[in-house]
Amino acid sequence: MSTSKKTAKILLPSKENLKLLASKLTEGHLVAIPTETVYGLAANAFLADSILNVFQTKERPHFDPLILHFPSSYLKSDNPLRSLEKNQIINLSDYSETLIKKINALLKHFCPGPLTILLHKGARVSDLITSGLKTVAIRFPSHPVAQSLLELVDFPLAAPSANRFNHISPTTTAHVLSELGTRIEYILEGDACEVGVESTVLYPSEKEMIILRPGKISQDEIEKFTEVKTFLHSTNSKTIQSPGALETHYAPRKPFFRSEVNLDSLSQKEFTNQIQKKLNHSKKIGLLLFQSDALLLKQKNETYEFDPIFVLSKNHSDIESAKNLFKYVRLLDESSANVLLTEPCPYSTGLGDAITDRLKKASKSL
Ligand code: TXA
Ligand code: MG
Repeated sequence: MSTSKKTAKILLPSKENLKLLASKLTEGHLVAIPTETVYGLAANAFLADSILNVFQTKERPHFDPLILHFPSSYLKSDNPLRSLEKNQIINLSDYSETLIKKINALLKHFCPGPLTILLHKGARVSDLITSGLKTVAIRFPSHPVAQSLLELVDFPLAAPSANRFNHISPTTTAHVLSELGTRIEYILEGDACEVGVESTVLYPSEKEMIILRPGKISQDEIEKFTEVKTFLHSTNSKTIQSPGALETHYAPRKPFFRSEVNLDSLSQKEFTNQIQKKLNHSKKIGLLLFQSDALLLKQKNETYEFDPIFVLSKNHSDIESAKNLFKYVRLLDESSANVLLTEPCPYSTGLGDAITDRLKKASKSL
C-alpha cells in the first residue's frame, strides 16, 4: 500500500474544468487560481470552514486578513461601490458622496487590474476574512482565467497568494505545486503571471490616499488621477495598519543579503570586507543583479565563486524585472549557492517601489 500523499491536479481552463472548479469552490474546496500578479489560493468567502482552511493550508496567522476577489461585471454598473454595498460586502454610511465618486472613478480607471482597495466592511464579510478589522480588501483581477471563474460563482473568492506563509509568492503553477502541492487538490492553469508582484493595496480617504503595499499601480498614477495627496505607508504609521506588512516576508531559506550600492562598483577590498563575515567559510554566492556587469564583478573578485547569476532584465526594464523577481529568488534558493546576494533596484516606478519593498523584506542589508 502506498503511503505517499496525493498531489494537486493542474487543470487547464477549459469550459468544463471551470464549471467543475466553480462547483468545487461552492462546496468549500480550495482552488489555486492564476491572477495577473501572482497565483492565489482561492476559497468561497461566504464559508467559514473554507476560510479557516486557507489560513491552515498556508500556515498563515489569523491576524493577517485576506483580499476578496470580484468579477468585472461590478465595474460595468454606474456605481460599483453601491452594488457592493447592496450585496452587504461594504458599508458606505461613513463615506461622503465625493469620496464614493472618487473611488468609483479609481475602480473604473484601474480595474480590472492590480489594485486592491480597503473599504469599510459590510455585514456579509466575516471577521475571519478581515482579522477583526473594520475594513475589507476588494480586488478585481484582470487575468481572463480568474475572471471566467469569478463569473461562474455567486460569491467572492477570498484569495491570498498561494504560498506558505512568509515564503516566496508563486508566479507559475509549478511554483504553486512546490509550495502547496500536497495540501490542496486543484490548481487552475493560467501561464506565468504577467505582473509578477502583488497588487497595490490602497487605503482611500478624502484627505489622503495611503498605499499600504506598493505594486504596479504607482503612487504618482494614483495621485495624478485622484488629485488627492498619496503616500507610501510607513510601518510605524498610526493612521492605518497593514497586518501583513511584516518586516520579513517573501524570504528564501538561504541567507540573503542586499548591498546598498551596485556590486560591481565595489573594489575587491570593499567587497571582501562587506561579504566575508556573512559567508561562513563558503565561497559560493548566488547573485541577483539589476545593473552590475557580471563579468566585471567576477574579474574583480576572483577568489569567490558566483553561481548562479540571474540578471533581472538585460534591457533594464522594470516590467521584466518584476516578472522575473520571484522566479529568480526561488531558483537561487533551490541552487547550490550557500549565500544569496543582491543590489539596489534602480527603477523609480510603481514596479520599482514594489521590487524594492519585496527585496527589503526578503533580504538583510549587508
Ligand atoms: O496581487 C494580490 O493582491 C494577490 C493576488 C492573489 O490577488 N493577493 C495577495 O494576497 O497578495 P495576500 O493575502 O498574500 O496579501 C494581502 C495583503 C496582506 O499584506 C494583508 O495584510 C493586506 O493585504 N490586507 C488585507 N486586508 C486588509 C485590511 N482590511 N487592512 C489592511 N491590510 C489588509
Ligand atoms: Mg502573500
